[in-house]
Order: sequence, then structure tokens, then C-alpha cells
Amino acid sequence: MSNRLKVTPNDLSAFWMGFTPNRQFKKAPRMVVSAKDMHYTSSDGRQILDGSAGLWCVNAGHCRPKIVEAIQTQAANLDFAPTFQFGHPLAFELANRLVDIAPAGLEHVMYTNSGSESVDTALKTAIAYHRAKGNGSRFRLIGRERGYHGVNFGGVSVGGIVGNRKMFGTLLTGVDHLSHTHNLAKNAFTKGEPEHGAELADELERIVALHDASTIAAVIVEPVAGSTGVLVPPKGYLKRLREICTKHGILLIFDEVITGYGRLGTPFAADYFGVTPDIMVTAKGLTNGVIPMGAVFVTKEIHDAFMNGPEHVIEFFHGYTYSGNPIASAAALGTLDTYREEGLLTRASELAPYWEEAVHSLKGEPNVIDIRNIGLIGAIELAPIAGEPGKRGFNCIVRGFEHGAMLRITGDIIALSPPLIITKGQIDELVDHVRDTIRAVA
Ligand SMILES: Cc1ncc(COP(=O)(O)O)c(C=O)c1O
Repeated sequence: MSNRLKVTPNDLSAFWMGFTPNRQFKKAPRMVVSAKDMHYTSSDGRQILDGSAGLWCVNAGHCRPKIVEAIQTQAANLDFAPTFQFGHPLAFELANRLVDIAPAGLEHVMYTNSGSESVDTALKTAIAYHRAKGNGSRFRLIGRERGYHGVNFGGVSVGGIVGNRKMFGTLLTGVDHLSHTHNLAKNAFTKGEPEHGAELADELERIVALHDASTIAAVIVEPVAGSTGVLVPPKGYLKRLREICTKHGILLIFDEVITGYGRLGTPFAADYFGVTPDIMVTAKGLTNGVIPMGAVFVTKEIHDAFMNGPEHVIEFFHGYTYSGNPIASAAALGTLDTYREEGLLTRASELAPYWEEAVHSLKGEPNVIDIRNIGLIGAIELAPIAGEPGKRGFNCIVRGFEHGAMLRITGDIIALSPPLIITKGQIDELVDHVRDTIRAVA
């Protein structure tokens, strides 16, 4: 590694970092300078095991050759091309490839640059769809407590994490929320899907009784809630939600920003749970996190509802300058090739039993009040330090990095989601890191 890469800049003040305690970070930065496969290299030259696939996005591991090559080649050939009124082949090729791996029925794709944009695209599409069908009174959006749908106004409005909401005024109007499904009293230390809580989907009936179905456009949920600290849906919950949505003509949106592209051992969580939404929101793993890009999948029915009127008129007034950007499209195609060649969209299903046992071996460690898992996701919930919620979790980040693991924390919950290339040996290593960390912060 060149000396230049090893240097930590001595003025960190200009970059106002997101979702980070800036003052603490800048006093003791946790800096990485390169990455390969399962590891980062820190600025002081240490190997750091990636326990969270970056931010749940580097599903194929770091700096994978097919993706690197695709980006390099594309940057030298066609750097940018508009996809408003013009096109380039890769964006179309990618959409076809995506539809090929998507659950049956999701036949069209719109591109964005992030999960947050994908969410807002989905919400707008849902409202506009109803209007296109002559049901303009369906404007309400239903989210869920503890949901995370990114940081734009639409996503924050349907999201249910108080810290992300309370600073930002009125948010969108016409939004209501289902209860979250987290129930430590009944479901603690469940392996896989919890037994209790499917009936919480029936709350949608209560919301329909309050507002009337004729005012509700869509329900949006993460199939497995991630950023709130990994909430696995109770058995039967998502099926019930689907049935109630269908009964009332309400669109069901799955936010698969973290569950998409193999995280559960199926291409999408929709496949895992056998529940197909009307709109499916993705990003992150689409390009292995390498280039910002998201994709929103919709049914033929939704797409076709817009395809009317004079042919020279734009059908849907929505899109981003970088939608289907050529380099992002190339990165996504390189990513899909890597997933296919290495079987990564289903690899988590082979590892899941081993992963489950490994993660649950942490039961009994100090302050561990719950352990949850599904696919290649795990969460270890720690009791907070009295009067200082989040402090124990934060200590885990710092301690983990010092000792060679990047751990993702929400409050006092450690959320594990390693790259899907992880070996069994590395699973043991990761769980050992977590065990040492939990003991150290006790
Ligand atoms: C379920 C879900 N939706 C949306 C987002 C937002 O994605 P982005 O940070 O790319 O805007 C995230 C990010 O973690 C997410 O987990």
C-alpha cells in the first residue's frame, strides 16, 4: 500500500458525516483505506472483518474483479447518457436481467440512485397509479412503527424510528402506521420466524375502518426490518398483510433495500416468504454498493395503467438525472454476473443453519436479552446501560473496530449481515469477535 493511503487527513472538520457522532469520530477516527473480499484494511494497516457488508450492501464482498472491470470499461466507453427521451443499451439489458430474477408478476423497473429515492419513487407511483385508474381519493400511505425507509420526506413519513422523524416538522400528511412486531416477552431467542404476532397484520383492518379503504393508496413494510435492529416477521404476518391489502385494493410495497439480492438465501424476501408485493423497492446489493443505484419493480398492471393518452406525452412525471446511469448499469450487470457465477443469491440458504447456531451460541453472554436470525442476518440485543441507552452499543462499535471487526449497531442491538461470500470459518471468527466485544463492554 502506498504511504499516501496510510495517511489520515489531519483536518476532518469539513465533512459533516451522516448518522455519526461527528465530534467523537473526529477525535478518534475509525478510518479504512482499502478492502478485499471479506476484509477492510484500516489506515493503521490492520485487517478488519466486515460484519455488515458495509451498510448491508456489499453482498459479493469487496473489490470483486467482474464489477471492477465492468466499471473501468464502461467509464472509458460511455460515461453518461440521459435516460429522459434518449437511452443506452445497458439500462435496458439490466432491466431485463432484473425482471428475470424478480418474483413473477413484477415486470417493469424504474431506476434511482439510493434506497431513499427508491422508496419515494414507490410511494409516488402508488398514489399516481390510483389516480391514473380514476381513484384519486386513494392518497393515504401506511407505514409501520420502527420501519426504516431512508431519509427523504416520503420515507421518513412512513418510517417509524423516532430519531429520524422528530426534527423534521409535519412530514407528509395522510400517513398512518401499523404497530411494530417486536415482542421480547413472547419471542425472545426465537430461531428464525417468531411464533407470536401474525395477528398484528389485522391492525390494517382497524386502519381501514378508521380511514376507509377508498382513501388508502399503499402499505409499505420491510419484509425483515433491518435498521431498527432486525425484526423478523412473525410466522404468517406478511401473508395476512397481503390478503388484507388485496381485499381492499390497497397496494403492498415491500422495501427490500436490505433483503434484496440474496440476503435471506433467495433472490428477494418476497421469494422467501412466498408473498409477492405490487411494488418492490431495492438498492444497495443491486450494484454491490459500489456505485449508487436503486431499482423499483412494479407489476404490469401498475405500469400499464399509465400507458395511455397521446404517444408523444410523457406518461409519468418522475425520474432522476442519473436513473440508469451507464456506469451504474455496468456495475449492476457485473454484480449480477458475480452473483450468478458464484451462486450468491441462494448461498445464504446453505449457510443459514450454521449461521443460526453460531449466532445463538452467544446466548448467556453478559447483557444479552435476545438473539434473532434469518437468512444471513443476525441480531444480538443487549440490555442498555441504565440511564444511557445506546452507550453499550456504541462501545461495541469502538471496541469491535479496535480488535478487527466492523460491527453495525442500532441503539444497543448488534446487527450482523456479512457479505454472502463468508466461509464457515469466518462465521466463527465473526461470532468470536462479537463474543469478545460483548464481554469487553459488559
Ligand atoms: C429498508 C431500507 N430502506 C431504505 C433505505 C435507504 O437507503 P439509502 O441509504 O440508500 O437511501 C435503507 C438503508 O439502510 C433501508 O435499510
